[in-house]
Amino acid sequence: MVEPFKLERFFARYEFQVKYLLSASDCEGLPLSELLELAPPQTLSLWKDLKLGYTESQGHPLLREEIARLYRSTSTEQIVVAVPEEAIFIAMQTLLRPGDHVISIFPAYQSLYELAHSIGCEVTYWNLRQDSQGWYLDLEGLQAALRPNTRLLVINFPHNPTGFLPTLDELQAVLDFAARHDLMVFSDEMYRLLEYSEADRLPPVCDLYEKGISLSGFSKSFALAGLRLGWLATRAPGLLGAWLAYKDYTTICSSAPSEILGLMALQAQETILARSRRIVLENLSLAAAFFTHYSPLFLWLPPRAGSVAFPRWNGSISLEQLCKDLLDLRSLMLLPGSIFDFPGPHFRIGLGRQDFPQALQALEMHLDGLPHP
Ligand SMILES: Cc1ncc(COP(=O)(O)O)c(C=O)c1O
Repeated sequence: MVEPFKLERFFARYEFQVKYLLSASDCEGLPLSELLELAPPQTLSLWKDLKLGYTESQGHPLLREEIARLYRSTSTEQIVVAVPEEAIFIAMQTLLRPGDHVISIFPAYQSLYELAHSIGCEVTYWNLRQDSQGWYLDLEGLQAALRPNTRLLVINFPHNPTGFLPTLDELQAVLDFAARHDLMVFSDEMYRLLEYSEADRLPPVCDLYEKGISLSGFSKSFALAGLRLGWLATRAPGLLGAWLAYKDYTTICSSAPSEILGLMALQAQETILARSRRIVLENLSLAAAFFTHYSPLFLWLPPRAGSVAFPRWNGSISLEQLCKDLLDLRSLMLLPGSIFDFPGPHFRIGLGRQDFPQALQALEMHLDGLPHP
């Protein structure tokens, strides 16, 4: 039995009902026409002549070739294309056995630890810490979480929901810890390439660590969530075959049109990523001004990368009540931290959407109407 995915159930209820989504994690969906305009002639021919049959289970060879360029020491043969959520599912099913112990970063996208629970693993949450300066890693907490049967460490940087990004030294310390204890590392890198400063970009974990698995995809930084396409990359021996055998029971192969569109996206990555970063950075500066203006009603914890942040509400009404009022009175969705089972009145905001200024304005109107403490 797997527990309901709280965040996905919350989105299923409100995402297509409300006027303003202030907590979406993806970047504003790129129109198909814009993607096609960016495509080089050869890829456009692949699109026009595409036969809508089954595709290669591991992923289109040209797509994998282009994906492999994102990595330094991981090749086309070490990549499996899958829907990102499916990729997490397949990886967990093939890596874990009942009784294994898993350490997972926390808070986190629920499937990163819930699937381990459903398999019968014990999970220790490795909490990100927070002070008035922002979020930080607790390396001592990681050491304390270790058990003799720990098999897997799950990390996610840039992090959802906080936007936290460690330094390379910190990431290296985490991977050294994994190597010392012979742990597999599942690294969710869905928000990679959305760093605000290129100097902050971390190398993919599959390049840094032989027992590392990197998850990436088109849904967030590439603004193409509707492709439902991503991939797993690893140099660890034996995993590829197990993933492919498992994929025969999930989707068998990926969507043919999505694979070609994904290929186009990688070929036009500079333009597409610059668009996503522009949207996020513009919204980030509006968010910073908003939180300064409304201080001390909020504690703003600026993200370092990605399209989400996890500030704290300091108002006198409860965060749950605020979120409910915003839904009922302003048709505005704000994601409370309780959806992540995170204690304290944090909430997620999404910085990737083009209507962020209007959504923020709706929030401002609501706050201005609240009685002053
Ligand atoms: C950290 C993280 N990993 C994986 C996913 C799953 O991506 P997708 O919805 O494209 O399957 C998400 C989506 O929100 C996410 O935030």
